[in-house]
Amino acid sequence: MKPLIAGNWKMNGLAASLLEVEKLGGLMGGRAPADRDVLICPPATLLAALAARAGAYGVFAGGQDCHPAPSGAHTGDISAEMLADAGARFVIVGHSERRADHGETDALARAKAEAALRAGLTPIVCVGETRAQREAGEAEAVVARQLAGSLPQTGVFVVAYEPVWAIGTGLTPTLEDIGAMHAFIRDRAGPEARILYGGSVKPANAAGILAVANVNGALVGGASLKAEDFHAIIAAA
Ligand code: G3P
Repeated sequence: MKPLIAGNWKMNGLAASLLEVEKLGGLMGGRAPADRDVLICPPATLLAALAARAGAYGVFAGGQDCHPAPSGAHTGDISAEMLADAGARFVIVGHSERRADHGETDALARAKAEAALRAGLTPIVCVGETRAQREAGEAEAVVARQLAGSLPQTGVFVVAYEPVWAIGTGLTPTLEDIGAMHAFIRDRAGPEARILYGGSVKPANAAGILAVANVNGALVGGASLKAEDFHAIIAAA
């Protein structure tokens, strides 16, 4: 399965940040490696401009969220159709920061994933347990519930396993724990889904994580903001 290395810029990036895309293109020798997919999900304000620049290097662009409806009276929201129109090919849905900051439920994540598919985008559905849930021995039960509630019923989708306690903390699960959870997700997501690991992926740990069975790529936050770091992770895949 072709690995997918995805960068999630979150609420970071101004127009000047597009220079990182040019830098990344240069580091890759002008073209993303043919044996892996590279994706950047910038804030919506930069999506169209980034998609145009990234496309020249064979790098995909994606959204960080979408509304489940195609259009309508939803002030401040962005539909999957709009993301596609701006050049996106993927969209992240159900990220733990959306779940925590905006009270997003599994049902809403599924509705967004299905809206993405209708718009021709590939949804990246995020799941993952909190520290308290892991310490209580509930990690698998939580992820099973999120998968059962959030995955679209049909279509090609990507799953991102992001343990909440590993996001932006420098902490990561052991490779054994990553392997066990990815095998658990594989059983539920099917043989075709790419399953990404996310949570403090850095150049120093990327090769080890990406070599684990059923890890089909990474969803990278902080380390995707600097072209050198993101390139090192792409090269590690
Ligand atoms: O979606 C990516 C993410 O939540 C991981 O962030 O900064 O720990 O790589 P980070």
